[in-house]
Amino acid sequence: MSRIALLTGGSTPERDVALAGASQVAPALRGLGHEVVVVETIEGPLSREREQTLLDPSVAREPPSPEELAELARRENLPALVAGPALAGFDLVFLVLHGGAVEGGLLQALLELAGLRFTGSGSLGSALAMDKEVSKRLLREAGIPTAEWGVWPLASDRLAALGWPLVVKPANAGSSVGVTVAHGAAELPDAVEAARAVDSEVLVERFLAGREFTVGVLGDRALGVGEIVPSHEIFDYECKYTPGMTREIFPAEIPPALAERMRALGLATHRAFKLRDFSRIDFRLDADGTPCVLEANTLPGMTRTSLLPQSAATLGIDFGALCAEICRLALTR
Ligand SMILES: Nc1ncnc2c1ncn2[C@@H]1O[C@H](COP(=O)(O)OP(=O)(O)O)[C@@H](O)[C@H]1O
Ligand SMILES: [Mg+2]
Repeated sequence: MSRIALLTGGSTPERDVALAGASQVAPALRGLGHEVVVVETIEGPLSREREQTLLDPSVAREPPSPEELAELARRENLPALVAGPALAGFDLVFLVLHGGAVEGGLLQALLELAGLRFTGSGSLGSALAMDKEVSKRLLREAGIPTAEWGVWPLASDRLAALGWPLVVKPANAGSSVGVTVAHGAAELPDAVEAARAVDSEVLVERFLAGREFTVGVLGDRALGVGEIVPSHEIFDYECKYTPGMTREIFPAEIPPALAERMRALGLATHRAFKLRDFSRIDFRLDADGTPCVLEANTLPGMTRTSLLPQSAATLGIDFGALCAEICRLALTR
């Protein structure tokens, strides 16, 4: 039995996803016998009544508006939260947060400086995985296939070499926020604008035309491979969080050699980015069937039906056991 602060909320576009995850992780941890206080990054420790109203298991079709997020960010003070009483005196801080500063290493650095034990990757790994451009250089260096890319603006010959369509994405983001496909030069300005609204650095990538997969990592092993079949051209925010808009097939119905290849690449990616305890690695096949890594998620979605829990379930690890293992890995560090 441990005393656990479940830290959730945040002021990123993925705030609702975090609150939905917390609504399921909290009862799972209590079911394991732990004493759990849910701490929201702005409100601080929540009463059980406030938990009931704030932690909504469903996620709206679109992320909160930029105005709503700016207002939340104005009220949020992560350095004061981490240094203050809200997180003091626990055995463990369990992070159910996504995107930006809370997933990308800044919160992790604050927790490290405060000497607080927390779940998942440390500040360095979180930062390496959050920045898709640095990530892709590390992948290339490790010999792990990833889509050809450039940082916007590109010289016209380099742009031409990538071909159409192109995927345009913010270098630092998540949940497909700001990610769009430009099918020709006419669509490029709007696509760049959409990505730039999320991050000042914008990547353009060769479009990977094949099927999409994901694989979880837990401890030092890769979990089961799942296929993602979104009803849109890409796995966008709406497809990610609207029930029925995506087929998620676990385990993926693919030749064992392809599954083994992605499990090996997933583990290699986890190691290349110096990740810790758990992660989820996303893939797409290119036109000739080669699995390419899209990105690594250091704090992947944690509702019962999220992809990491499904990847674990294919190996017989249910949601409670996954939460227990995430705690164990952090507590035995
Ligand atoms: N190079 C690509 N080719 C084809 N589809 C892509 C490519 N990059 C991203 N996508 C699509 O966009 C989605 C989101 O991209 P991703 O890089 O995983 O960003 P995020 O961190 O926002 O999830 C992917 O799940 C995939 O469907
Ligand atoms: Mg992704």
